[in-house]
Amino acid sequence: MLDLHTHILPAIDDGAVDTEMSLEMLRKEREHGVKRIYLTPHFDPYAMDVDTFLELRQKSFDTLKNALGEEEWPEMRLGAEVKYSPELLDMSPEKLTLGGSDYLLLELSFHHYPAHLDQVVGELDGMGITPILAHVERYSYFRKESALLVNAINNGALAQINVEPLTDKNDKGFASACIDHSLAHFIGTDAHNLTSRAPNMNELGSHVSEIQLSRLKKFSDMLWENEAPPHIRPTLVQKGLFRYK
Ligand SMILES: [Fe+2]
Repeated sequence: MLDLHTHILPAIDDGAVDTEMSLEMLRKEREHGVKRIYLTPHFDPYAMDVDTFLELRQKSFDTLKNALGEEEWPEMRLGAEVKYSPELLDMSPEKLTLGGSDYLLLELSFHHYPAHLDQVVGELDGMGITPILAHVERYSYFRKESALLVNAINNGALAQINVEPLTDKNDKGFASACIDHSLAHFIGTDAHNLTSRAPNMNELGSHVSEIQLSRLKKFSDMLWENEAPPHIRPTLVQKGLFRYK
């Protein structure tokens, strides 16, 4: 399995506080069978410019690489969890893609549907960049109105969900339905530390069906090989009386 979304790089954001913690997180990922990892520290275009971020990220990665030693590790590639802003289009977004691919991990506002989202997604698509919306289950407006997510995907976005909601029987419905309705294509741990938000890919297998797992794997392979996304027809998720459908 591939972990698309992690905060394992040391001392760069609110993830791993030092190299020791990064190494322990990587050991957990390895124990959980994760073979490929994107390292995706937060990038906030309002906080710093892209080149400064890339320098800091490289420094952090160099520190981690120096500490890896002889153990066998998952394959790692650099990426970023990019905070949404329409100004992003003027900030060389191609420099922020996942491992230099044509895919960019994009974090939206949690409570307010982002202004101009469909236009920005469309323009990124026109630049040859496919935005992957990070942990879509966390945005209240998508839960309330899945048509908004359908639009974003129809405009060229793909979407990622975290493992965590799938493991919570009270919360699993929406995230699980997103996989079934082609409203979520990728899975990530969004791991930040070893306690409250630890790597948890080991929990995925027992909380999704074989079909869901194989869909997620197919998209993961496509991303790692930087292949073009398949034509996708997402469908609306509706909340029934007892479950999502
Ligand atoms: Fe994250």
